[in-house]
Amino acid sequence: MIKDWFYDKLKENIGELRYEHSLRVMEKSVELAKIYNVSVEKAAVAGLLHDCGKLKGGINLLKLAEDFDIILDSMTKNNHELIHSVLGAAIAEKEYGIVDEDVLNAIRFHTTGRENMSKLEKIVYIADMIEPGRSFEGVDDIRKLALVDLDKALILSIDNTLKFVIEKRKLIHLDSVKARNQLLIQKSME
Ligand SMILES: [Fe+2]
Ligand SMILES: [Fe+2]
Repeated sequence: MIKDWFYDKLKENIGELRYEHSLRVMEKSVELAKIYNVSVEKAAVAGLLHDCGKLKGGINLLKLAEDFDIILDSMTKNNHELIHSVLGAAIAEKEYGIVDEDVLNAIRFHTTGRENMSKLEKIVYIADMIEPGRSFEGVDDIRKLALVDLDKALILSIDNTLKFVIEKRKLIHLDSVKARNQLLIQKSME
């Protein structure tokens, strides 16, 4: 699924630092995929390309999303952090030739999460949060939890994102709230 040229194109498009981060997310995604019986190949490509929409060089992502005929919801339109994931799924499909829906959804929902996430979607969301380059309070707890309980790790990851979003006074995407509520209800019934 990963072609050799993906690496050069990605580095060129998103810049060195973001590229290094992407490699670490790929590695972490593969590690988690092995634990939770998910296709290693899909995890690798989704991890590698998850930020392919974070184009460097001050490109107007909103404008680009329009060019791709993407209709953004109001929350995404007003929180620029979220655009790159929606845009990324379109770029992965059109420029990297990814057709696998699960891989495209893992890219599409790596910022917000959503209800009924697939295991691959959960893995990429968490891997993005806990790759070795990340340092925030509580990251080590999520790292440990991710090895034994994917859903608990996901709840903590979403909590961390929400805290960040609230601190920055940005819009909370409803998909994140729905994802978190569903996971909490599910966990309380276990
Ligand atoms: Fe991202
Ligand atoms: Fe990322």
